Amino acid sequence: MPDRPYIVGNWKMNGTRTMLAEARAIDRAAQRHPGVQVALAPPFTMIGALREAVTVLGVGGQDCHANVKGAHTGDVSAAMLADIGADFVILGHSERRKDHGETDVQVRAKADAALAAGIAVIVCVGETLADRDAGRAEKVVSGQVDGSIPLGDIAADAVAGGKVAVAYEPVWAIGTGRVAAVEDVVAMHAAVRARLIAAYGDAGAKVRILYGGSVNAENAAGLLSAEGVGGALVGGASLTADAFLPIVAAARPVED
Ligand code: PGA
Repeated sequence: MPDRPYIVGNWKMNGTRTMLAEARAIDRAAQRHPGVQVALAPPFTMIGALREAVTVLGVGGQDCHANVKGAHTGDVSAAMLADIGADFVILGHSERRKDHGETDVQVRAKADAALAAGIAVIVCVGETLADRDAGRAEKVVSGQVDGSIPLGDIAADAVAGGKVAVAYEPVWAIGTGRVAAVEDVVAMHAAVRARLIAAYGDAGAKVRILYGGSVNAENAAGLLSAEGVGGALVGGASLTADAFLPIVAAARPVED
């Protein structure tokens, strides 16, 4: 059901086994919202345990290497994520682009690898405050979409199967409490949509575009009901069931 709103928690570098209780509580609540697709992306170390602990939640990684295996100390491949039970991976998050110098070319290679391993992808894009202030937000984000999304036959199948999503996350809104204005989100999602249609043709109209950046219980309903917003990628407010579940409940279900 690729049309369902997609609410994804990105736990970033947070989460030890004590947090399995939160995941279980989120899973129980997600069972009551079948019209919303709910997923969590814990650190690598937690993926296997989370997979065992939950039933309806998607479980994903926050990065993968572009190669299947080999001499890459500290890295994890998409095939390994699939093996431990992950069904998707977040790629090109701005924290990876900044902390690890990830380029669009690398993000695309990782996305291609993930789809080849049979897991879905969420490709992240977003402008910095300097980009926005200089009036080049749409240009920067459009360029990131053009350069980062998976292409080719595997991607075409994955897009048709609802296994490709894009997250628009303005860098200045991540973890800052400073959420983007709804009208700016609508404009940026329209810009992303245009690039998806350019890349994938008509199928690009169905790719879900998530908003991310300081989404919380208070602002979720306004963002999630905005034109072109297919879900949310949530950081800080995904760490507890109490904070995350109102966001799931705010998603407008396709058929609840
Ligand atoms: P935030 O993070 O919700 O804490 O702003 C979002 C993200 O980085 O995915």
